[in-house]
Amino acid sequence: MANQQPASWRERLYPIIFLSNNLISRIGVVLVTAAAIFWVFLLPTYLQGEAASAYLGILLFLALPSGFFLGLALIPIGIVLYRRRLGGTPALTSEFPVLSWSNPSLRRLIIFIGVVTFANMLIGANLTYRATAYMESVQFCGLTCHTVMKPEYTAYQNSPHSRVECVKCHIGAGASWFVRSKLSGLGQVVAVALNNYERPIPVPVANLRPARETCEDCHWPDKFGGDRLRVLTHFDDEGKTTKSVLLMHIGGGGARGVGIHTAHVGKGVRIRYAHSDNERQNIPWVEYGRNGEKRDFFAAKARKEDIAKMDVREMDCMDCHNRPSHSFETPEGALDRMMAAGAIAPDLPQIRKAALEILKKNYTSTAQAESEIPAAVERFYKEKSADVYSKRQAAVQSAAKGVLAIWSRNVFPEMKINWGTYINNIGHNDFPGCFRCHDGEHKSADGKAVEQDCNTCHSLLAMDEASPKILTELGVD
Ligand code: HEC
Ligand code: HEC
Ligand code: HEC
Ligand code: HEC
Ligand code: HEC
Repeated sequence: MANQQPASWRERLYPIIFLSNNLISRIGVVLVTAAAIFWVFLLPTYLQGEAASAYLGILLFLALPSGFFLGLALIPIGIVLYRRRLGGTPALTSEFPVLSWSNPSLRRLIIFIGVVTFANMLIGANLTYRATAYMESVQFCGLTCHTVMKPEYTAYQNSPHSRVECVKCHIGAGASWFVRSKLSGLGQVVAVALNNYERPIPVPVANLRPARETCEDCHWPDKFGGDRLRVLTHFDDEGKTTKSVLLMHIGGGGARGVGIHTAHVGKGVRIRYAHSDNERQNIPWVEYGRNGEKRDFFAAKARKEDIAKMDVREMDCMDCHNRPSHSFETPEGALDRMMAAGAIAPDLPQIRKAALEILKKNYTSTAQAESEIPAAVERFYKEKSADVYSKRQAAVQSAAKGVLAIWSRNVFPEMKINWGTYINNIGHNDFPGCFRCHDGEHKSADGKAVEQDCNTCHSLLAMDEASPKILTELGVD
């Protein structure tokens, strides 16, 4: 029966078995086997896809698969190298067992190889799946290079998108952006390893995927609503509140009424603009195109020959929502929020003024701030009003914690991020934002300005009032 087997079958199998008996291939076999055994033990974790910490995650979901595939690769590499060293495939010797299906030990060997290959394919598929899934996890993106990503990760957790994975905005769907992101990710890993990345990370992010391909996976312009009521609460130094009530004209992209989105990203609308700076803050020319009709607006002192040299950009979500997820606060805004929430008691005398001063001081490291900020708040009361301190010690201590919390989620000396480092383009109070174009100075040839009327974007129902009548009427307050 042995003789009936085609000769090529035997000739092909024999050298592989013979040549695989070398050091490199044996190391490969040990690696694959060890990784496979670990995988079996860690199967519950692998099926769950979650590790207890980012470092354990790297070990489990990246190092283990690497070992496995490295081992698989070493086996053929060893064979090729060994063959080269022997100067070709040695001839079949009589010491080698008979290569025939009727030889029971060979039969066992082949069945063994078949079963192992099948198991390896299963394990390999699972390892690959977990490795790619892990590299897309918030844990990996946000925590692996801890110092580098800490500011964005911290702001992210404090944002409406804290349940949206980083990759949903940064990579989006489809294979080509996935590959691109892995390639640029490789460069970033090298930069972090060499410690030569820029601090702070420069914006706008150069290779960010166009917003309309990512944001619109979840927010589609046709769906944007009508008006939205916003109540903004501010505190003064005496701890008294004032409220502004705005009816934001959100506007839909379809026929859902005019408004902010209809005007810029609605059907048939295309806005282009030139900017002289990388941050896109200085905009001397805007072109408003709607259903083929175009209108140019020029800033007051804009010169056409300068504009011709500038970068031109088509407006999308990111020109207003450039901080949808990494929204760093102003010290004033953050204090308003913490005081409204009660984490910092608004009736602590002078708390706002003292906190602002302490927050705006320069701290060279997180450790320094962590020891100095709470101490400074307590000292303020101990020294300036000892009887407030003795009567309201708990409130002072809670305020001290609150002030540090504000600092910790917004300032990152290790990444050179301070108050206002990252500009937010929504609104017009803290940064130019909408008023980059809607400043009343951008005019078309017939003298019409990009609208600045205070009721264009929102109806101002109340502005800095102690108790706005409109809220009582609506039954909100
Ligand atoms: C809702 C969408 C969204 C999500 C989710 C998101 N990002 Fe971003 N991210 C952005 C946008 C938009 C920018 C670009 C800002 C710019 O170019 O001005 C950005 C910028 C960044 C930057 C550059 C520095 C900066 O602050 O602008 C880093 C780093 C970053 N993101 C990391 C992360 C990490 C890590 C996560 C997950 C923990 C994450 N992002 C989740 C939208 C998102
Ligand atoms: C994977 C889905 C997803 C993607 C992608 C996404 N978002 Fe969101 N977005 C959400 C969810 C969920 C919320 C929270 C809704 C809520 O709180 O009611 C949200 C809320 C918002 C809000 C409202 C925030 C507020 O204060 O109420 C804005 C604005 C927003 N997203 C803009 C963006 C922009 C801009 C992008 C693209 C850079 C983007 N989103 C990408 C899911 C997503
Ligand atoms: C011209 C600036 C501008 C552009 C461009 C823009 N938005 Fe907005 N968007 C706003 C403003 C302003 C608000 C209201 C914010 C508020 O209520 O304080 C808003 C609100 C939203 C909300 C919350 C809606 C709600 O009902 O609360 C979502 C979601 C959103 N935008 C997504 C997007 C997406 C996605 C794009 C791109 C297709 C986009 N926006 C383009 C300015 C813009
Ligand atoms: C890059 C320039 C630019 C920026 C930045 C910009 N807009 Fe506009 N916006 C325009 C142009 C151009 C028009 C159309 C002007 C016209 O026809 O009067 C417009 C029109 C509008 C309209 C409709 C006005 C009307 O008369 O019906 C609203 C509302 C609006 N913008 C809101 C906003 C808000 C809110 C922001 C900031 C979050 C913003 N815009 C930022 C360029 C801009
Ligand atoms: C081009 C659109 C636009 C125009 C014109 C405009 N605003 Fe606003 N305004 C906004 C947006 C967007 C916000 C931000 C809402 C938010 O916080 O998300 C805002 C916020 C405000 C706030 C609340 C700030 C706070 O934190 O309490 C006040 C007050 C305000 N605007 C007053 C005015 C006045 C007064 C004018 C007329 C000079 C005006 N706005 C014109 C778009 C506009």
